[in-house]
Amino acid sequence: MIIAIDGPAGAGKSTVARAVARALGLAFLDTGAMYRAVTLEVLDRGLDPMDGAACGEVARGLDLSFDEAGKVLLGGVSREAELRGETVTRTVSTVSSHGAVREAIVAKQREIAAKLGGVVAEGRDTTTVVFPEASHKFYLSASARERARRRAFELDVPGRIDEIQADIERRDRLDSTRAHSPLRIADDAVEIDTDALAVEEVVARILARIRSGRGGEGKP
Ligand code: DC
Repeated sequence: MIIAIDGPAGAGKSTVARAVARALGLAFLDTGAMYRAVTLEVLDRGLDPMDGAACGEVARGLDLSFDEAGKVLLGGVSREAELRGETVTRTVSTVSSHGAVREAIVAKQREIAAKLGGVVAEGRDTTTVVFPEASHKFYLSASARERARRRAFELDVPGRIDEIQADIERRDRLDSTRAHSPLRIADDAVEIDTDALAVEEVVARILARIRSGRGGEGKP
């Protein structure tokens, strides 16, 4: 079974998808981490993030694997802090906008799902491009302010909400206006506005939908 969850940066997709995967006994596929890994490798090699052909070559040759918790390994090594760090976060929208990068990474994502026989995938285009045939599709939304507030709380920098909000809005703009696989709500996805919901409530709604056989056949 494939469950696909999309939404903008900071909507809580990773936490929610991880919990849904655990509850259903499925593997968790963090597609954003794969684009972050390409970005880290591009920066490590001193390549230009704007150079689509060079970034595509890096994506095709990347030695990507996952540990049991679903965390990305680059060349067999966990580089979580760098993947989540500011430099990669600032550059990943550019690297992930190239068609050649997306083609290579989407192929890897489909390979992984086929090998495992099912996944809970989260990202920007898992409901629309990567797994259009997913049995259940969800779109998590939240206001830019609330997403910035959550991220600032997570990073323990409450004084930086405005700055974080500006970066989130910049990424939203890039992710939803790019030519290849822009972020959008799939016609058959169920949208959940998470502004006023705790993580557990979002997870409970998703699991209820899946268990009732709904959540993939139109908006509520
Ligand atoms: O979810 P995240 O913040 O880790 O994602 C990092 C970036 O990767 C995000 O700015 C856009 C890109 N991304 C993408 O283009 N397609 C996906 N399926 C997932 C992420």
